[in-house]
Amino acid sequence: MASFEITGGKPLIGTVRVSGAKNEALKVIPMAVLLEQPVKITNVPDIVDVRNQIKIIEDLGAQVSFDNDVLFVDPTGINTPDISEKAKKLRASIVFIGPVLARFKKVSCPHPGGCIIGVRPIDTHTDAFRQLGAQIEEDEENLKISLEVTEEKNIGLIEQSVSATENLILFASGSNFPITINNCAIEPEVLDLIRIVESAGAKVERLSERSFKISRGESFSASEIEIMPDRIEAGTFAIAMLATGGHGEILNIRKDDLLSFTDLLKKTGVQFTLEDNRMEIKETKSFEPFELVTAPHPGFPTDLQSPMALIAAKADGKSRIHEALYENRLQYLKELQEMGLEVEFESNKIAYITGPTVFKPTEIQSLDLRSGITLVIAALMTDGQTIIKDVEIIDRGYENLEEKIKKLGGQIKRIGTDGTKTDRG
Ligand code: EPU
Repeated sequence: MASFEITGGKPLIGTVRVSGAKNEALKVIPMAVLLEQPVKITNVPDIVDVRNQIKIIEDLGAQVSFDNDVLFVDPTGINTPDISEKAKKLRASIVFIGPVLARFKKVSCPHPGGCIIGVRPIDTHTDAFRQLGAQIEEDEENLKISLEVTEEKNIGLIEQSVSATENLILFASGSNFPITINNCAIEPEVLDLIRIVESAGAKVERLSERSFKISRGESFSASEIEIMPDRIEAGTFAIAMLATGGHGEILNIRKDDLLSFTDLLKKTGVQFTLEDNRMEIKETKSFEPFELVTAPHPGFPTDLQSPMALIAAKADGKSRIHEALYENRLQYLKELQEMGLEVEFESNKIAYITGPTVFKPTEIQSLDLRSGITLVIAALMTDGQTIIKDVEIIDRGYENLEEKIKKLGGQIKRIGTDGTKTDRG
């Protein structure tokens, strides 16, 4: 496993251009299963999760090339409904179920299981397919589903799950009979995926805020698809600049995707300007304590909850953080405690942070993607050298992280498993 050696003490200043959205790219790759012709997908972040998702579609029989954030997928050779064992490497592989099921009327895949941030059952997915008439065989290891829809259907999701909504959108895009999906998640990545399936030929009708009626159109093909900017990466770099006492501009954003985040930033006293595709962060010296509760969109995004704790650490007073979605997503606060954070837990989902904190360097392990990036920023806030271990978990979701941090003036080095220092960007 590799580590980061981070020397803190310098404010991050300058310009950063955010990459394509991980959580959209991971769904557009499965969508290609349904396409009748090859597709070019642009602005695809070169991250470990994307590389794993690509391996899964290759195992299904697709021809793929990926270079310089441009992904070509030729799905015409896809010839099996059996999703390979590589699906175990990432939960987003579950979104292959919808399109494979639509194409072959059956699918088998390894059971995705829970993960460090929560139990993450897949009931919302399986219940929705059952409502459509699916036969499902499920054990701890595997999932087998068969389903043929022969009439119009109307179903409701148990909860507003992002990936369950996307799975059903993709299934419905390959269905000859219209499927109305109620209680959908409406995260920006979901709405953008709907725009993409519509442009590929699916018939989509938005019946109400969270209800969509979707079916296959005459044909389903797209010559080029562009992945939207990553709103979580944008928010993360805004926080990194603020938390290190820096300032700068963040390019390749979509203003509307960031409003729940910037509404909270405003309450903390941060100075910034937000334009349609650019955000400017001004140097901010003092921060107000705040209350944060995560919620499905348009609420505050859970994926920005952990970096936001660093603003709480800067604020003068007590902030309250409530992670309402995942049961284990406050674990990183214990790591930050080792670095000097003053934190009290009311429960596994609610914590109080009292600032201001001066973080001290240490040797620490990154637990999951979002807590990993939080430790990276905390390390940049110290006055010394921090070692963060097991950084492969951070490579799952941030493209060119070291390069971007170094361009802003931060000092970060990757230490390989053999102890060698590299400047891999
Ligand atoms: N949940 C609720 N209430 C709801 C909806 C969800 O409590 O109305 C809970 C679920 O029970 C679960 C959690 O929220 O514990 C997330 O559920 P969801 O099914 O929406 O998550 P997902 O589709 O598996 C995607 C992202 C996650 C992101 C969540 C929530 C991908 C590949 N993953 O997961 O991203 O946290 O939506 O926005 O799209 C990450 O990027 O680090 C990450 C974990």
